[in-house]
Amino acid sequence: MKLLKKLLKNKTVLITAGPTREPIDAVRFLSNRSSGKMGYALAKVAKENKARVILISGPVSLPAPKGVRLISVETAGQMLKAIINSIKKADLLMMAAAVSDFTPRRLIKTKIKRSHSLLLLKLKPTPDILKAINRKRVKHKKGLIKVGFAAETSSLLLRAYQKLKEKELDVMVANDISRRDIGFDSDYNQVCILRRDKPIIKTKILPKEEIARQIFVSIIS
Ligand code: CTP
Repeated sequence: MKLLKKLLKNKTVLITAGPTREPIDAVRFLSNRSSGKMGYALAKVAKENKARVILISGPVSLPAPKGVRLISVETAGQMLKAIINSIKKADLLMMAAAVSDFTPRRLIKTKIKRSHSLLLLKLKPTPDILKAINRKRVKHKKGLIKVGFAAETSSLLLRAYQKLKEKELDVMVANDISRRDIGFDSDYNQVCILRRDKPIIKTKILPKEEIARQIFVSIIS
């Protein structure tokens, strides 16, 4: 598709994918069910259309698409640092990662024993990566296009619009994770693409690579 090459050729696309993992003790962690498939599909499509792709990925069991620069991270904090290190070069930021919202307040270096009758785990919020990037001290290109992904179980469009504004995004891709047939871990997805002052695009149920193409097209159409 010529339109995609026009958007992506020789551009630097920074994509985050997969879950983050927040360590609890020597062997356990907090995480989520993200497979990374949506982010990896975005990376593949961007690469096919001649972009330079930096893929910052949490732990997933997928091979990185050919020609993509992979930066592997575990925690939300590491993901934020990796983004700050690469954002200066980026023309597009696609935040497809399912970043953990909470991390244990204290890391216990040994293995917690099961002898506790009740174990209370204290959690603190992780940094909001998209909001952190909007702060002045994080230098990025002036025309940086930012795309977020909202996984919701209710009030899908309302919440996605709120996040579009609060996180100062150009595009928000909303998907309903209460559905079992699509989304998390599936090869298929159906999303609503929200943009500022433009109509909503609702895709059909499609392979994630095709969803990725439609997301890129929505940026320029
Ligand atoms: N995100 C982020 N930093 C976080 C959490 C999320 O940058 N600590 C990004 C995600 O990568 C995604 C967008 O924000 O592109 C929306 O993520 P979502 O989990 O839907 O939003 P939250 O801000 O975490 O809000 P909540 O989980 O309370 O709905």
